[in-house]
Amino acid sequence: MCGIVGYVGNRDAANIIISGLRRLEYRGYDSAGVALSPEGENTLKVVKRAGKIVNLEAGVQKELPTSEEPYAGLGIGHTRWATHGQPTEENAHPHLSQNGQFAVVHNGIIDNYAGLKEKLIADGYTFKSETDTEVIAHLIEACYDGDLRGAVARAVETLEGTYGICVISSLHPKLMIAARKGSPIVIGVCKGETIVASDVSAIVSHTDQVIFMDDGDILTATPDTLDITSLKNVPVSRPPTTIDWDLGEIEKGGYEHFMLKEIYEQPVALANATRGRLVPKEGSVKLSGMQMDAYEMARIDRVSIAACGTSLYAGMVGKNFFEEFASIPTEIQQAAEFRDRNPIVLRDTCMLAISQSGETADTLAAVREATRKGATVLGVCNVVGSTIARETGRGVYLHAGPEIGVASTKAFTCQVSVMAMMAIAMGRTRRLSEHAGQAMVEELARIPELAQRVIDRNDEIKAMAEKYASKNDFFYIGRGYMFPAALEGALKLKEISYIHAEGYHAAELKHGPIALLCDDVPVVAAAPMIPGREKTIANMQECRARKSPVVAIATEGDSEIKTHADDVIWVPDCMEFVSPIPVVVAEQLFAYHVARARGCEIDQPRNLAKSVTVE
Ligand code: G6P
Repeated sequence: MCGIVGYVGNRDAANIIISGLRRLEYRGYDSAGVALSPEGENTLKVVKRAGKIVNLEAGVQKELPTSEEPYAGLGIGHTRWATHGQPTEENAHPHLSQNGQFAVVHNGIIDNYAGLKEKLIADGYTFKSETDTEVIAHLIEACYDGDLRGAVARAVETLEGTYGICVISSLHPKLMIAARKGSPIVIGVCKGETIVASDVSAIVSHTDQVIFMDDGDILTATPDTLDITSLKNVPVSRPPTTIDWDLGEIEKGGYEHFMLKEIYEQPVALANATRGRLVPKEGSVKLSGMQMDAYEMARIDRVSIAACGTSLYAGMVGKNFFEEFASIPTEIQQAAEFRDRNPIVLRDTCMLAISQSGETADTLAAVREATRKGATVLGVCNVVGSTIARETGRGVYLHAGPEIGVASTKAFTCQVSVMAMMAIAMGRTRRLSEHAGQAMVEELARIPELAQRVIDRNDEIKAMAEKYASKNDFFYIGRGYMFPAALEGALKLKEISYIHAEGYHAAELKHGPIALLCDDVPVVAAAPMIPGREKTIANMQECRARKSPVVAIATEGDSEIKTHADDVIWVPDCMEFVSPIPVVVAEQLFAYHVARARGCEIDQPRNLAKSVTVE
């Protein structure tokens, strides 16, 4: 979703901002722009373009004077994912105030913008765009009395909704202001300069010292100073955090796409997710981030999982874990639904917010609602220091490393592993025996190898994907642990190949969707050697009877399944509870190669955003 980069210092702001925006491309966007404040010119230079950053870069080259000297040491830039108004040049950020002296970039949504706009129009302001953001620029102008920080504070006090903003003014050529409520802003602390961004990826090439702004913070930055205050101008102390990502982790490293790199990284990511956490001797795990003693764990009488997208499907796998291993009734809900339907939260409910980015607006809203209702809320996040991780204050990090491909891959398999560990921890305070716990912990130690064995079959999966790449409709089916795997397989395919794909419970297929089956509609059946396999085979036969080609995902050595499928993707034998991991890795590779064969833009699929920060 939208990205922000701001810079104040002595280097060339345009270059730094554009390369920062490139690092944010993965979040998804449809237009981009920069505003620069060239010293001594008393004016702001704005360049905006619809489409990709290359267009913006060409625009900047065309419109800015060429010289050895940096054009400006102050600027802000933005990649916009359209919400209010089409992805046009007019609607792209930065937006200027009426007198052209104030420029703003904004992530988030201003809920009361229509009312504010009406008032501003009555006061003589004219609007050039259809965005909610333009009201912020005009409001800052209206509130300005010589103090830019104060004007921004007064302007944002009138806003309802969410914002992460960065503001510059031609009247203050060495000053950058940022503010946040609900949309992340990270400050890169460097000597002689400050960089802000909506995501650490735009900062890591400059520094590993970052400050995560909190809601209600205002940053005032000059090349040599950096102050954070509250809206009421009370100083706030926010010590820097050290980011342990290196640049290589957010670059493609020889792979054609981030998605493929991240699929291949899964054995390492899974080893990192479980490292130091498995205690085989005790048949248990150590998850200090949960900050729960055995007494507190044993008291949980309901687990409630809220998540979106791929994280939601990982949560569906998790539901099985908590019920099966910890005997705790567990509900799973799409995060927006959790809040919208005013959930019943009992005293000993433990809510899990599953989110790779830790910034998904719907999941964050569910966290806040559950907290308000007195639940114990744990975050299962990948991005360290993200809003959900900070607001929940406790939980378990995935340690999967940065995930850049919009289609989530390694986050899913690590989320499943982390929830298995959480369920073992809870189960061991209840009826899960040491012996059973040991078998599970030993199996979790094998998951990197399980993922690797599927990756080793990449060429086979690629050939199969190419065979089916011309089809325009797919069904994915499965039962039990394979039901969420089927949903995730279908999601991966539609996200990156734009093929219509539906995930169904294998038993539900005959209650409607079977009407759509024919020789042009393949069915991918997740049927490894776990309970439910025989019944899924029966469903595969029903599909073949309607002439649908069937691709089975089956356990190596299962010779029987070959007779019921047109093609088979083999996965290694494993215990039932970890089976979604190899199966989903196989589905990821299948979707990747189908999309590649169709020539799709895999890392930045159309209309999608990596982190959805609007509700
Ligand atoms: C977006 C992404 C998905 C992701 C979902 C939830 O829709 O495109 O890949 O699964 O958000 O994101 P989260 O960061 O909360 O896991």
